[in-house]
Amino acid sequence: MANTILVGAQWGDEGKGKIIDVLTEQAEIVVRTAGGNNAGHTVYVGPTKYVLHLIPSGILRPGKVCVIGNGVVIDPVGVVKELDGLEKLGVPVSPANLQISETAHVVFPWHRELDGQREVRKGKQKIGTTKRGIGPTYGDKAARVGLRMIDLINARRFPERLRERLEENNEVLKALGAQALDYDSLLAEYTAAADRLRPFVRNTVLFLHEATRRCANVLFEGAQGTFLDIDHGTYPYVTSSSTTAGGACTGSGVPPNRMDRVVGVLKAYTTRVGEGPLPTENAEISDLLHGMGREFGATTGRARRCGWFDSVATRHAAMVNGIDELAVTNVDGLDSLRTIKVCTAYRLDGALIQYVPADSEALARCEPVYQEFPGWETPTEKITRWEDLPVNCRHYLLTLAQLTGARLTIVSVGPAREQTMFL
Ligand code: IMP
Ligand code: MG
Repeated sequence: MANTILVGAQWGDEGKGKIIDVLTEQAEIVVRTAGGNNAGHTVYVGPTKYVLHLIPSGILRPGKVCVIGNGVVIDPVGVVKELDGLEKLGVPVSPANLQISETAHVVFPWHRELDGQREVRKGKQKIGTTKRGIGPTYGDKAARVGLRMIDLINARRFPERLRERLEENNEVLKALGAQALDYDSLLAEYTAAADRLRPFVRNTVLFLHEATRRCANVLFEGAQGTFLDIDHGTYPYVTSSSTTAGGACTGSGVPPNRMDRVVGVLKAYTTRVGEGPLPTENAEISDLLHGMGREFGATTGRARRCGWFDSVATRHAAMVNGIDELAVTNVDGLDSLRTIKVCTAYRLDGALIQYVPADSEALARCEPVYQEFPGWETPTEKITRWEDLPVNCRHYLLTLAQLTGARLTIVSVGPAREQTMFL
């Protein structure tokens, strides 16, 4: 398969989990490189629904090695819950199929508390975070005061480090009017999680280096999407990690010249969960999709905001990620529409522009310029071959790829593995 970076080309929830699961068939190793348990990947295998947050969905395929890379932030109690959940569903997890980077940073309850407190203080300017403590954890990493997995599993060192960090953070929490956290119960909880996770923790950089030297097929799975990237997203309405293709390198320790291709995943329309600009947001398509029971978040259950496909945005995503190939998902969501709109430019303060402005306030002022396409008004969920898709549907999808500037290679018309077509 070649070493492949998979990224979300929109605002997250593009259906990456399913595409990752499909591509994993050809991979030996699957690596998660950014984000934390703010992510939610939903994968259906037969009748069983799996929702994964931190553990790569490759875990669902026997014989694959999954790696949680150094770029990820880990809530150890959350991972243990995820492990237990998988085992309950009959999915075996052991150090033979899961490795956790020793240099990944650890999420603590004060990170979650701070995340929530900051959101409250921002009031109407809030980001709409998942409240999983992601921003404060990456903040500590950048400020060089974070604790890493290597600290967590060190039984000699951890109690002292925990005490130092807790003392400082309790001061902050009290100043914000929040409850201080109790050292003893935190130590007990995190020590129990550390004992459970210790066998999985190792130097994943060396492991991946060896693997890519053997020319293994490694899949680097992205989380969130391009416009939630800390550098390239709609700042400050972003997450705190590098969700674009470069993050796959820094988040794993595998250098750029070992990467062979970049696959961008996008929905046949646009969604966003949380606050921030979304130029093509539209009530009609939101109501349609929510009415079908679609577009509710896998992690928080929040209704996602929906809009028409925005090719100005996806073209930008193709640029910053170097996307070679596209996987378009959720095509069946548009089956009932008579006319489908695609945004091909923005009108900003009277001028026509073809790029995404860096200033979120300017992006919020952008009015989409649409091109209309005839719908196919036919159910597509049972179609398994590209040639069998309605001609209007194929035309629509090829136009999305052309406007985005990459080759269409995968089309998905439903959550199941079988509902996938390869071009
Ligand atoms: P945080 O990552 O929890 O700090 O949230 C920051 C922003 O990213 C919010 O708008 C979230 O809704 C969004 N976000 C974080 N993770 C995901 C995801 O997996 N899918 C979609 N949006 C996400
Ligand atoms: Mg998701």
